[in-house]
Amino acid sequence: MDTTPSNIGLIGLGVMGSNLALNLNDHGYSLSVYNRTYTLTEHFMAQQAQGRTIQAAQTLPEFVNQLAQPRIIMLMVTAGRAVDAVIEQLLPLLNSNDIIIDGGNSNYKDTTRRWQELTAKAIHFVGMGVSGGEEGARHGPSLMPGGAVEAWPAIRDMFQAVAAKVDGVPCCQWLGEGGSGHYVKMVHNGIEYGDMQLIAEACHLMQHALGMDFDAMADTFAAWNQGKLESYLIDITSQILRQKDVDGSPLVTKILDRAGQKGTGLWTAQDALEHAVPLTLIGEAVHARMLSARKDERVAASLILGGLEAPVPAEQRQAYLDAIHDALYAAKLVSYAQGFMLMQTAAKQYGWQLPYGDIALLWRAGCIIRSRFLGDIKASFEREPVPQNLLQDPFFVVELQQAASGWRKAVALAVMQGVPAPALSSALAFFDGYRCADGSANILQAQRDFLGRMAISGWIVILRCIFTRIGALRLHSAHRVRRSSYEL
Ligand code: 6PG
Repeated sequence: MDTTPSNIGLIGLGVMGSNLALNLNDHGYSLSVYNRTYTLTEHFMAQQAQGRTIQAAQTLPEFVNQLAQPRIIMLMVTAGRAVDAVIEQLLPLLNSNDIIIDGGNSNYKDTTRRWQELTAKAIHFVGMGVSGGEEGARHGPSLMPGGAVEAWPAIRDMFQAVAAKVDGVPCCQWLGEGGSGHYVKMVHNGIEYGDMQLIAEACHLMQHALGMDFDAMADTFAAWNQGKLESYLIDITSQILRQKDVDGSPLVTKILDRAGQKGTGLWTAQDALEHAVPLTLIGEAVHARMLSARKDERVAASLILGGLEAPVPAEQRQAYLDAIHDALYAAKLVSYAQGFMLMQTAAKQYGWQLPYGDIALLWRAGCIIRSRFLGDIKASFEREPVPQNLLQDPFFVVELQQAASGWRKAVALAVMQGVPAPALSSALAFFDGYRCADGSANILQAQRDFLGRMAISGWIVILRCIFTRIGALRLHSAHRVRRSSYEL
């Protein structure tokens, strides 16, 4: 049996963990693996790990002893209590300067807490966002590490080797202290929710407002994927729309229109509210999933309130299709601008120096939101001076101006046909609000002032009542005193 110390230990052999282990091993790193349920470890060793420099451990002490020092331990376990539980079990077995990396979708607040607690114990803790699903983990994910910077020199080469690359540049850069890595991953996921919702709305418009069939929709997305909208999610949508069930009918028609969520989009929306950042598009994407979950209620409501209007005449289709393309693109620009606004605001509050250009770069490949225009975002952050907001960047300004009329046309179509398009339309409302020098908030302020005066005058009335009552009581008791003395 090989007793050479392993370069890295990996805990959690689920889909992501096992694929990342194989990816690390492909790049020449030897591993020890541990899983709470040993049968999964046995299965992994007998199947995927056959003939590789991967050692199995049945217990945590055995696992820890197999690792080269200082130890590098990657956790690929379900976010939440499981992460704390594993760390707790590991701690008595570790030495100062050992490194723990959490590669799950952990809440950044938990990561910050763990980083603080472990720093106090001289353990270097890294929270690393890992994006790209099973395929990414196996062949090149986008990696977003942050936490104890002391760990970075020891883990940099390893993770930059396994990460996705664009023109040889790895999609893995150090992001900052504390929970910054998981923060960036959270915003990535929020943007992912937004992109997915925008695409879903475009599909809905094509199907119900333009009367297109699924093959025509698939062709449209395939064509769009050759242009400005080129991205992983546009590509897979084209493939999904083309897929047929065994009976030959489009597979999407057999899928229930009720979307689940694991919570990272919700965290992004909540965080934006906490930081007073108008992250409207992602918020709408989360709300849309929540509304989708109320399937039975929606079905009942459609019978009471009526459904969609008939599609527009076929000869108008192409013009509207071009408009939907522009709407999708413009709304996506707004969504990314909002996402970067959120990161910039949070970074200020938490004292992080987030490398925004690098973030755009490390999302260019490997991850779910990979797309062509992230290169343009990177270029925006290289300008001198960096624009106050991406929406004021010359590239964004030109693109939005060109897309604006199509965007309005598509949103108007949605409104007129009764097709819900909350993300496309809220992005347009945000855009119009953002570029509005004279907004409507003067009316809000005037109303607030009025209510304030009402409140003050309300207090005056209450105080008057109190004083009048006290006066009346005094008079009453004086009268009683007089009456009593008379009676006496
Ligand atoms: C990734 C994905 C992945 C997953 C999210 C969202 O970057 O690989 O973001 O982490 O898709 O957890 O999942 P839900 O849609 O189920 O919330």
